[in-house]
Amino acid sequence: MVKKAIITSALPYANGEIHLGHVASTYLPADVTCRFLRLAGTEAYYICASDDFGTPILIQSESEGVTPAQYVAGWNKRDREDFEMFDIRFDHFSQTSSPANIEFVRDVYLKLDAAGHIFEREVVQFYCEYDTKFLPDRYVIGECPYCGAQDQYSDLCERCGRVPEEIQNPKCSICGATPSKRSSTHVFFKLSGFAEPLSEWLASNENLQRDVKKYVQNWIKSGLTDWDITRDIPWGVPVPARVVGWRQDTDVNGNVNKEGDGKVFYGWFDNHLAYISSALQFLESHGIDGKEFWNSADIYHFIGKDIVYHHYLFLPAIRLGIGSEYKLPDYIPTRGHLTLQFKKISKSRNWYIGLREFLRYYPADYLRFYLISINPYSQDDLNFDWDDFAARINSELIGNIGNLVNRVLGFTVKRFEGTLPEPGAYDDEDHTAESKIARLASELYALMEQNHLDRALKAIMAFSAHFNQYFQHREPWKGREPDTANCIYLSVNAVRSLSIAAYPFIPESAERMWAQLGLVGSPKDASWDGISEIAMQPRHRLGNVSPLFERVDAADVGRHKERLGPS
Ligand code: MF3
Ligand code: ZN
Repeated sequence: MVKKAIITSALPYANGEIHLGHVASTYLPADVTCRFLRLAGTEAYYICASDDFGTPILIQSESEGVTPAQYVAGWNKRDREDFEMFDIRFDHFSQTSSPANIEFVRDVYLKLDAAGHIFEREVVQFYCEYDTKFLPDRYVIGECPYCGAQDQYSDLCERCGRVPEEIQNPKCSICGATPSKRSSTHVFFKLSGFAEPLSEWLASNENLQRDVKKYVQNWIKSGLTDWDITRDIPWGVPVPARVVGWRQDTDVNGNVNKEGDGKVFYGWFDNHLAYISSALQFLESHGIDGKEFWNSADIYHFIGKDIVYHHYLFLPAIRLGIGSEYKLPDYIPTRGHLTLQFKKISKSRNWYIGLREFLRYYPADYLRFYLISINPYSQDDLNFDWDDFAARINSELIGNIGNLVNRVLGFTVKRFEGTLPEPGAYDDEDHTAESKIARLASELYALMEQNHLDRALKAIMAFSAHFNQYFQHREPWKGREPDTANCIYLSVNAVRSLSIAAYPFIPESAERMWAQLGLVGSPKDASWDGISEIAMQPRHRLGNVSPLFERVDAADVGRHKERLGPS
């Protein structure tokens, strides 16, 4: 049976441009994994959407004088273009505000309600007398009751990662005044009822990162808080009416609210459901039974460490709450945050690099190569450093891979008119080279399968370095035979292996290697095992050979560093 996979990345909020921090921790690792899985024969789809609802987006659309729907549509389009430029290839990039998701969310809610996981409660809520509105989430800043961190939003502490039950010393984030309190009826999801099934699921899932799992289990031990899943704002998925005192405007059938004027779901109730609804949308439009596919696929949710709570507890609890109609994630690859020159990224202090801007200066593959090579499969933060970027591109990507490809193919053109020579009897060195090719596919597979993308890239570099040395040592320019023919024959085949193995990481360069090798099609149509084949035969003709890369100039890098702002 063909293996299947659905891959998602944390949905980007539709209120700001994609920057290096976003792509480093979630989109790039997911894209690399998806390309790898396909080469390995898995039917894999990469699904994403813009995260359209919520208070900050409403605030921003208001301040720009457009409707929230127009506002998010603009960002959705912009995100698509930026991802495309970076060769992040989604099969589907939807919106949490799509009709399909809205319908799906309301349906999930009704199922949760029917299963007894929903209750109502009067909540005393912050209310700003000056701005005359209720102040949910990001409208309120204060101190985290757990760790004491200052200036935290009331829905998530960025320091300890917990969701405060009640923020201390609250202030209205619009006007800075201390808000008063008013009461309003809200709907809650009984997360506390899921402690046991969540613990069981965590214990039984061997694919989750051990350290993350451990602290999530501690959160469960210290007690789960029920989630308030409704908000008094006009932008969100309208909450279907139930046995309510607070809904006067249900229709004649008594079940649908007038859209937009009442309570809506909290963004974290609807956004992750778009993983499923967008996947179904895509699959069904391709004639595939969506639910059947979802439930027989490996499910991957790539995230950054700031949203562990939501993905390891809230999201699985909701899926459990509807009777596991859609299976829980198999993998939740969780990575740390990117710092810039060792400082936290901050848009307001202009300490960030927009993806689009970066791609004006350097090819996508340079950034893909660099970000993967500094990005371990862990929650440790990773650091973008301009000088390190230049050094790694020049010495590793260009000095190692680029050098091998150019040297081997260039020599074949010069000495053999671009045609692969017939090898003779192998000596030890040739046998070693041959076995490097033979072992590469399984060596890399083991690393990629375990999400160690950085280590796989390192192994690719070691492979390339080996062939650089082999070439150097054989001195083919001296024309000794059969050394020369053997060296060229095996090295050209090694370049082919490299082209397939490197494809998930640097797809555009891998395609060019493939073309220079004179092969038809693309490395993406090869198979993973094909990495270890000696597939190019004597008398094969290479394509047009030219240098793959251009060096990163130190003076340019100095200028980019200055543009970043004062450090
Ligand atoms: N937009 C959220 C963030 O950037 C992530 C949403 S991921 C989802 O933190 F699964 F919940 F949709
Ligand atoms: Zn805290």
